[in-house]
Amino acid sequence: MKKFERTLITAALPYANGDIHLGHLAGAYLPADIYARFLRLTGEDVLFICGSDEYGVPITKTAEAKGITPKELVDQNYKSIFSSFKNFGMSFDNYSQTSRDIHTETAQAFFTDLHSNGKLRQNTTDQFYCAQCDRFLADRYVEGTCPKCSAEGARGDQCEKCGAALNQIELVNPVCAEDGTTPELRATTHWFLPLGDWQPEIEQWLSEKPHWKENVLNYCRGWFEDGLSDRAATRDLHWGVKVPLEDHEGKVMYVWFDAPIGYISSTREWANEQGDSEAWRKWWQDDSTRLLHFIGKDNIVFHAIMFPGMLMNHSENWILPDNVPANEFLNLEGGKLSTSRGYAVWLPEFLENFPADTLRYTLSRTLPETRDTNFSWEGLQARNNNELGNNFGNLANRIFSFAHKYFDGKVPQWSDSVLEDIDREALNQVEVHLGQWRTHLANFEIKLAMEEAFSAGQVGNRYFDESAPFKSRKTDMDRCGVSISVSLQILKALCVMMAPVTPFAMEKLWSWLGQDSDLHTNSFIHATTPLPSGLELGKQEILFPRIEDEQIEAEQEKLKELQD
Ligand code: 2FM
Ligand code: ZN
Repeated sequence: MKKFERTLITAALPYANGDIHLGHLAGAYLPADIYARFLRLTGEDVLFICGSDEYGVPITKTAEAKGITPKELVDQNYKSIFSSFKNFGMSFDNYSQTSRDIHTETAQAFFTDLHSNGKLRQNTTDQFYCAQCDRFLADRYVEGTCPKCSAEGARGDQCEKCGAALNQIELVNPVCAEDGTTPELRATTHWFLPLGDWQPEIEQWLSEKPHWKENVLNYCRGWFEDGLSDRAATRDLHWGVKVPLEDHEGKVMYVWFDAPIGYISSTREWANEQGDSEAWRKWWQDDSTRLLHFIGKDNIVFHAIMFPGMLMNHSENWILPDNVPANEFLNLEGGKLSTSRGYAVWLPEFLENFPADTLRYTLSRTLPETRDTNFSWEGLQARNNNELGNNFGNLANRIFSFAHKYFDGKVPQWSDSVLEDIDREALNQVEVHLGQWRTHLANFEIKLAMEEAFSAGQVGNRYFDESAPFKSRKTDMDRCGVSISVSLQILKALCVMMAPVTPFAMEKLWSWLGQDSDLHTNSFIHATTPLPSGLELGKQEILFPRIEDEQIEAEQEKLKELQD
């Protein structure tokens, strides 16, 4: 496999139209963050980019309903999304907004490049126009009966009921979503990405990606079999990146055209903040950079097909994604998450009641990596109390209590020569789990990696029980000290393995273990280096507080009300 020098990680730009929920986290954000943290920890050069996706009709509609401007709405949402991401522990290097000037410039230059090289197709078609509102009715501004499943209330771009993507003029009995009047058809000119023409090139490129996840390749094969069709690059709207051509008042880029370019704008913004405005090029235009897009499955076509097609057809030399490790969906208590019905667990509310690490860990054990999975509150409680609490937290607690009570809060005297089989055996087992953990993570198998971390925790517990410092303390204090030192050593490896997933608790543990290096940068090499005898230890607190039944019942109750 090609050896890359650096990795650019992107996580899908969330729409600035509301809060983040657990589905978003399990689909894209948590895996992206765990992966970025993992690479930093193994000493790799990483840039982790994201930002808010701030155009599109749902945003203007929400703003209209609230009586504020779209810009006011996205700025408010940007703040709250950014702050809950931060509290959740997302370690972005930059988090931008697509409504900023740098994005306008970047997206317009991209459009101009494709346009002036004859890469976009111009087409004049009939679109619905509302005489009352005096505007074209793009996307959700028009509603009607679905031509595929006959459901009422299908929107111009999609029927929520059957999921079909629609061309608005197929709608039966179309009405303006604002005032219910029947719109007229008017001719309008737009630009399209000729994906049909680009298909052979994109298909060829994807055929060289056997290392991609099967679910992602399967979606792509399905699209290719159906044959790619042109995709609109522009819309008749006011809120969006203006089409940079003369005589095109009132036309903006289609949100799915400009959004992926947002990754580039966010990288440029980062470069400017570094004081080196050209530094972004190394991340986007140098073959030794590995590009990874973390997304949920509903975004596959855009990241594995459309955006690579745009990059290939641009006149500059862009790198293409080395992988798009998309996840499937997360269900909630056996039901489908639905933002329109509000059936979701929202991140800000979650964080008011529970620690971020609890959620990160629980999701890391149930990620929809290859198929849809389920989140339940009981599951969260069990993961927190039985696994974080009992397997990891208690182990740390037992070891530190001993070290403080009998060894003056220091690593007891030990050396390689005094180790017995039982000690070596445990240390070896942990090292094997650490190696497997690394292999799985490198392969985006976070759930398998976490099983290794969990098993390493079990090794630690078993070792503590079997080497029995609580007995040797009465008969052989030296032996007791070795047990504690070896246990601390195991804890250090565990701390590194858990760091990408439970960063807040592990930072504390790292410092209690007397480590003053940054846990999150290059600590993998320290995972198995010996803790020196006499090293001063910190005073430990409870790492993972228990979650009580009443807390869980209250959350279950809230969801039941939404389901009824
Ligand atoms: O599905 C979504 O939430 C989109 N806002 C993702 C955009 S990803 C990228 F293209 F910006
Ligand atoms: Zn109207």
